[in-house]
Amino acid sequence: MNAFRGKRFVLGVTGGVAAYKTAELSRLLAKAGAEVDVVLTEAGSRFVGAVTFQALTGHPVWQSLWDDRIGNGMAHIELSRGAAALLVAPATADFLARLAHGLADDLLTTLCLARDCPLLVAPAMNRQMWENPATQRNVVQLRADGISILGPATGEQACGEYGIGRMLEAPELFDELHAFLQPKVLAGKRVLLTAGPTFEPLDPVRGLTNSSSGKMGFALARACVEAGAEVTLVAGPVTLATPHSVCRIDVRTALQMREATLQNLPGQDVFIGVAAVADYRPRSVEAHKIKKSAGPRALELVANPDILAEVAARNDAPFCVGFAAESQDLEKHAEAKRIGKKLDLVVGNLIQDGLGSDTNRITLFAADGAHPLLPADKAELARQIVAFLAARMEKSRA
Ligand code: C5P
Repeated sequence: MNAFRGKRFVLGVTGGVAAYKTAELSRLLAKAGAEVDVVLTEAGSRFVGAVTFQALTGHPVWQSLWDDRIGNGMAHIELSRGAAALLVAPATADFLARLAHGLADDLLTTLCLARDCPLLVAPAMNRQMWENPATQRNVVQLRADGISILGPATGEQACGEYGIGRMLEAPELFDELHAFLQPKVLAGKRVLLTAGPTFEPLDPVRGLTNSSSGKMGFALARACVEAGAEVTLVAGPVTLATPHSVCRIDVRTALQMREATLQNLPGQDVFIGVAAVADYRPRSVEAHKIKKSAGPRALELVANPDILAEVAARNDAPFCVGFAAESQDLEKHAEAKRIGKKLDLVVGNLIQDGLGSDTNRITLFAADGAHPLLPADKAELARQIVAFLAARMEKSRA
């Protein structure tokens, strides 16, 4: 499913060195099947020339308010008509200020004011310029005006300083546009997820855990945000970055995961248990490091609570989704889990197809049978799971 094919984007480029990243972004968009029209300001053209953008997008670049290539001479009106979005990247401090005040003294600002499509901006500037109260005031105003602000990121800056103000990288902007294009099928919904492994300590340095990477749970959290949901993610010990706008609660053990889940459950519309929760924990945790001793050593384990089953059994249970990672007989085990734990949906996969990897092959098990999805990367699968569960929720309400 290619969200970009057949869509047209207008890329506005203002005067910042990050304009070279926008050249790459225009290439990524064109390669994904999108049409790209570039609008270059006078200052922008000092960093990357029009010929570069023309070669990358296959379209002539727009630079002047007085351009007469559009029949009615109104490039500032026509260019945004029918566009999926207008993205200004890089957006300088000066550009943000002019936008916040509705100035319209060149093609790009006029286009923004007369636009007929959503507007996103990717700020790029020195950290002091970004942190300056005037810029921050303008950003608050732009957000209030419904303009999406992408980034900026923190890192090394072209001026040699370190701090916030770097424009997002081209692939990150591409991902942001991809997210922006997703249908908002979970708008107004609240979703709670668990993800990652748990770690059950034996002593201060050792413990029982598993090799779950957390990637699928994090991808799902992100997909839920993209679909418009308010998302809380209870994460076991993983080193993954928190997806944008997700409220993350870090835990280590199954008992902590259960507590965080139950605490955050009231008011949730959906619960998705993606975590590979340890089924057992050591009966006791040694206060000091266990010393080596001759001969075998027994470890006594006690069962952990099944978080998902407990949530699904409640009278006020939200729409419950579970995962079944099996090494064999996927259908049999996944169905047993769906029925046994009273789940609305089970996402099943064979361990050899997905563990730790960025891709997976999954089948969705619902009351009406098995729905296999084509193998894809976890981000794409997550979007398909979200589309499926949103449709089911809608159906069960009707
Ligand atoms: O029974 P099994 O562990 O295979 O079930 C997997 C599903 O149950 C996953 O969705 C997992 O997140 C959830 N689970 C849980 N608490 C446990 C064990 C599994 O929430 N203690």
